[in-house]
Amino acid sequence: MRTKTELVYTGRYTDWTREAILAEVEKQMKPSRFQHVLRVEACSIALAKKYGASLEACSLAALLHDFAKEHDAKSMKKIVLSQALDSEMTGYGSEIMHGPVGAYHAEKVFGIMDRAILDAIRQHTIGGEVMTLIGKVLFIADYIEPGRTFTGVDEARRLAEISLDEAAYFKIEKTIIHLVKKELPIYPGTIHVYNSWIQRKVGNSE
Ligand SMILES: [Fe+2]
Ligand SMILES: [Fe+2]
Repeated sequence: MRTKTELVYTGRYTDWTREAILAEVEKQMKPSRFQHVLRVEACSIALAKKYGASLEACSLAALLHDFAKEHDAKSMKKIVLSQALDSEMTGYGSEIMHGPVGAYHAEKVFGIMDRAILDAIRQHTIGGEVMTLIGKVLFIADYIEPGRTFTGVDEARRLAEISLDEAAYFKIEKTIIHLVKKELPIYPGTIHVYNSWIQRKVGNSE
């Protein structure tokens, strides 16, 4: 099933058409993940309309965000090391690596140079200490798309209607709590992101 979108790319960010991107993305992953990508795009476009972000940029970031998710760990590690990305992430598996590695492919394969789109893809799993509007849109859309069923998703959806920052903070906090409860190690970058957001939140309420 393909979602219909009236969006036509202007060529501002890439020479690729939406259809050509879809075909390439579909090759990288199992069908269920491709459907997730399409739902994230639809959700991103809805959030972009609501919060005044570029629909085209948000569509592109969404379509490419999980490009590397099913790539093998060895090839991801190779890219992390060759691109001088944080080598520490290689100890935390594809869950952490696929964001930055996906951003690498967005640039190399699709010629995307726009910093906000690349950062959005790079940060979509753990968030960022500083995030653009496009980054927040993808970060939240990936969390609340209609296929998500985790406990707390309704609260995340409610917050996304009110404030992207509130929804982003909710995701950052819940992710840390989830990892601690499951006694899983936490990638230090995730802690840095949490620290930035909690310091801003406390600072704002003082
Ligand atoms: Fe992802
Ligand atoms: Fe995703």
